[in-house]
Amino acid sequence: MCDRVDRALAWARAALADVPGVEPLDAPVLLAHLLGVDRAALHAHPERPLTPEQAVRFRQMIAGRGRGVPVAYLTGRRAFFDREFVVSPAVLIPRPETEHLIEAALEWARGRAGLRIADVGTGSGAIAVTLAAHLPDAAVWAIDASEDALAVARHNAARAGVAARITWFRGDLLSPLLANASQVDLIAANLPYIPSADLDDLAVARFEPRAALDGGPDGLDLIRRLLAQAPRVLAPGGLALLEIQSGQGKRVAELAGAAFEGAEVRVLADYAGHDRVVWISTRVLHVASDYD
Ligand SMILES: C[S@@+](CC[C@H](N)C(=O)[O-])C[C@H]1O[C@@H](n2cnc3c(N)ncnc32)[C@H](O)[C@@H]1O
Repeated sequence: MCDRVDRALAWARAALADVPGVEPLDAPVLLAHLLGVDRAALHAHPERPLTPEQAVRFRQMIAGRGRGVPVAYLTGRRAFFDREFVVSPAVLIPRPETEHLIEAALEWARGRAGLRIADVGTGSGAIAVTLAAHLPDAAVWAIDASEDALAVARHNAARAGVAARITWFRGDLLSPLLANASQVDLIAANLPYIPSADLDDLAVARFEPRAALDGGPDGLDLIRRLLAQAPRVLAPGGLALLEIQSGQGKRVAELAGAAFEGAEVRVLADYAGHDRVVWISTRVLHVASDYD
């Protein structure tokens, strides 16, 4: 039944036919990963045999997908921005929505040298590693409450060749930087922002860590706490970028305006037109001179 590529795919298609949330490409993606080839090779060689071990492993993967396990947890890989990340159930699977935060950060960083960057709630390291890779003279601090997540992030940093420029902290939000009285030029944070009550209805919450998703009663518990700490950590003239859920823009912008007096606060939309990132640009300190 799963002794060659075409039969394995036909079997998988039938097995997953009525499973909600399954995409037509899931089975080919899983099989290509298992065989270490790209999907085009499956089409080019439908007669390629599977070893008995590969057939067993493929059936296990399809059974997992049938239970709703995300493809990224089955392959252990997820593409984000311009590279592939290793993922495990200890980390949130990086989302394309977070690429808006990366784009905003890189645009702001253009022409600014030697940036100090904090990634708060680093998870797989998607943000920390991508920014470190694109900003070769930046120093990055990556923080997460989960030691298991930090292990995955460290692995991704090593794979990307940027481990030497990232300092890891297990801790609560910006507390590790506050403890050292450290300041940064850029704070990037994709913190949990889903209201607790909404999680019960979300398929992702069955497999991804609750601590990566649950933002408390209105979804803003962590963002509120971060905004209380951030003014002491963000250097004058710095930028904070907070990923948010659609519909949270107005409220988070108000909270940011209250936390950072005189800051320029904007809500950036994603390609679907939904609130996605809150941009908080703090004022450069004006040093009085004799000529003022
Ligand atoms: C939404 S995930 C984001 C992961 C990654 N930055 C990304 O964009 O894919 C949020 C992360 O915040 C971490 N986290 C939750 N509460 C935290 C806290 N109080 N302090 C630090 N990290 C926290 C979780 O462990 C999780 O890895």
